[in-house]
Amino acid sequence: MTQEQWNAVDRFITDHLVHDDEALKAALAASDEAGLPAIAVAANQGKLLNLLAQIQGARSVLEIGTLGGYSTIWLARALPEGGRLISLEFNPAHAEVARANLAHAGLDKIAEVRVGAALDTLPKLVTEPGAGPFDVVFIDADKQNNPRYVEWSLKLTRPGSLIIVDNAIRGGAVVDADSTDPAIVGTRELYELVAREPRLDATAVQTVGTKGYDGFLLARVVD
Ligand code: SAH
Ligand code: DHB
Ligand code: MG
Repeated sequence: MTQEQWNAVDRFITDHLVHDDEALKAALAASDEAGLPAIAVAANQGKLLNLLAQIQGARSVLEIGTLGGYSTIWLARALPEGGRLISLEFNPAHAEVARANLAHAGLDKIAEVRVGAALDTLPKLVTEPGAGPFDVVFIDADKQNNPRYVEWSLKLTRPGSLIIVDNAIRGGAVVDADSTDPAIVGTRELYELVAREPRLDATAVQTVGTKGYDGFLLARVVD
């Protein structure tokens, strides 16, 4: 199977089932224009995040890794009136693009972007009155810190919360025990942490599409 086939099938899925409207397309165009890397989730993956948050009945979402706010828009749109999303982003230039995209999508009252290394901003969220617990956490930042992000997520969630981690397969490199790539090492540590963590019930799914061969890890905080 080829990347061209995966792209064609992603297009088929998106044309039929995914309503990526002007605000979403504009968010990608503005991100591109600002020179951000084209690594946002695909439209059909964004819709999956949106559906998962809706199924979860989420009122609050935490995102780690905003980029231009594309996944942020999909997630924020799942929230009801009075819902809240906080997205953590290291790069101030990315955060600025994301804030403009969220405002253009009419979501700037619901979704907030906080600038800083997530390992610095996550501890502040733990002590901030009313910030947590979050119903959904989407982890999609620097992959070497994925185990730490899951540990902080456990402090910021409740039984029944859903933690989603992007890029959990990495072209299959996740099975390479000899890898020295920090992203792969971090992803493998993520699986080990989730496996031994009694508060998490998890699986991972492999995906193909415009984002290549990758996948999501899904973990539910147990009751
Ligand atoms: N979730 C986005 C894509 C995120 S790309 C989407 O699908 O639309 C990863 C983002 O994580 C980048 O913007 C990068 O700047 C940010 N990032 C990298 N290291 C980080 C860190 N330590 N803390 C917070 N964000 C970080
Ligand atoms: C990269 C990061 C991502 O979050 C992603 O979904 C795809 C690629 C990257 O850093 O290359
Ligand atoms: Mg990603």
